Amino acid sequence: MLENIIRLAHTHRILFTRNVFSARNPMLKDLLKLEQPRKKPRVLVFVDEHVANENRDLLEDIMGYSEAHAEVFTLVDCPIVIPGGEGCKNDFRLVECCWDAIHDAGLDRHSYVFVIGGGALLDLVCFAASTAHRGIRQVRFPTTTLSQGDGGVGVKNGVNYFGKKNWVGSFSVPHAVVNDFAFLESLPARERRNGIIEAIKVALIRDAAFFEEIETMADDLAELKQTALERVVQRSAELHVEHIATSGDPFEIGSARPLDFGHWAAHKLEQMSKFTVSHGEAVAIGISVDLVYSRMQGILDAETCERVLRLIERIGFATYSRHLLENGRSGEPAILEGLEEFREHLGGELTVTLVPRVGEKIEVHEMNRVKILNALVELRQRQQA
Ligand SMILES: NC(=O)c1ccc[n+]([C@@H]2O[C@H](COP(=O)([O-])OP(=O)(O)OC[C@H]3O[C@@H](n4cnc5c(N)ncnc54)[C@H](O)[C@@H]3O)[C@@H](O)[C@H]2O)c1
Ligand SMILES: [Zn+2]
Repeated sequence: MLENIIRLAHTHRILFTRNVFSARNPMLKDLLKLEQPRKKPRVLVFVDEHVANENRDLLEDIMGYSEAHAEVFTLVDCPIVIPGGEGCKNDFRLVECCWDAIHDAGLDRHSYVFVIGGGALLDLVCFAASTAHRGIRQVRFPTTTLSQGDGGVGVKNGVNYFGKKNWVGSFSVPHAVVNDFAFLESLPARERRNGIIEAIKVALIRDAAFFEEIETMADDLAELKQTALERVVQRSAELHVEHIATSGDPFEIGSARPLDFGHWAAHKLEQMSKFTVSHGEAVAIGISVDLVYSRMQGILDAETCERVLRLIERIGFATYSRHLLENGRSGEPAILEGLEEFREHLGGELTVTLVPRVGEKIEVHEMNRVKILNALVELRQRQQA
């Protein structure tokens, strides 16, 4: 056997700004100048339809920016507008549409695809871009609290297939992520709230001080105040990327997925609700299930469990959904199938992250099904109380 180790180093960049396409904002042109290719890079832009509708000047600003900085890059076509939201990940033809656009624009491996939108559109377009020519550079511009603080700053993409979340996709480190806080202002309230739960999640597994900070900001967060949201999104993004960059397993070769704390139930719940429960709402419930479960298993003390559930509720999230106790084909609540699907997604051993203390995590390889059901019943009673 001839064995060689192939080491790859990637640079992950996040830039925080406001109004990135304002002609006076030099951030983007400076970013493109970082690598000085002999030829001016070609850039193709994809935009989430809702973002374009809510930010009327955006498309013009993008074109104006490219004209103002024509010496740095070439915008090869008008921005391509695609309806965002989870639906775009359920329609594989849209992947082909992105490939068509990339092909027609003659992009090569020195070109850039810019994607401006929510996490769903980022997942779709980055999947297409990372498979076209085996990978075209991506600059992501997440426009929701959830994607700016979590999904959009990560290294994964993908679409839903076989009715399963993110069944097809790839790992791909973006050239850069531009978190433009001005985009958050056009978000509907429900979407503004969604990102807060991923911040709570990452604080719970990594940073007790940040968790306390979120508690002190809870009233402002419940009112979805911009300054509080920006702080929480920024720290959440930092912690997510810090984990990806330093945990030693950015492409999830092992079985541990600590950033997916609360997600085994969340992914299944999203699917069971036919995606009427949003990812953020599902994660709030998934975390609640795992907290109550952990308390029942003696992993977490009752006081901490209650403290976290209260925070989740104060921010305005539900901790239970009527879909949780719906039966699946086996006659058992379908949510339990989520455990096997979670394991299947990675292969290998079931590994679920739980939180024994705020800021710390443990991994378990078995979950007691009866106790999970007891936790669901308790959360139902809590909601009815
Ligand atoms: N790749 C990853 O690592 C990763 C991690 C976490 C989540 N995700 C995925 O991200 C998706 C959820 O992303 P999301 O929470 O950003 O929601 P989303 O992309 O579904 O967007 C929610 C809605 O808001 C609209 N929208 C987006 N930005 C807007 C803005 N600024 N103004 C007005 N409307 C706007 C969208 O068009 C959509 O209708 C899920 O598919 C989830 O699986 C991926
Ligand atoms: Zn998530």
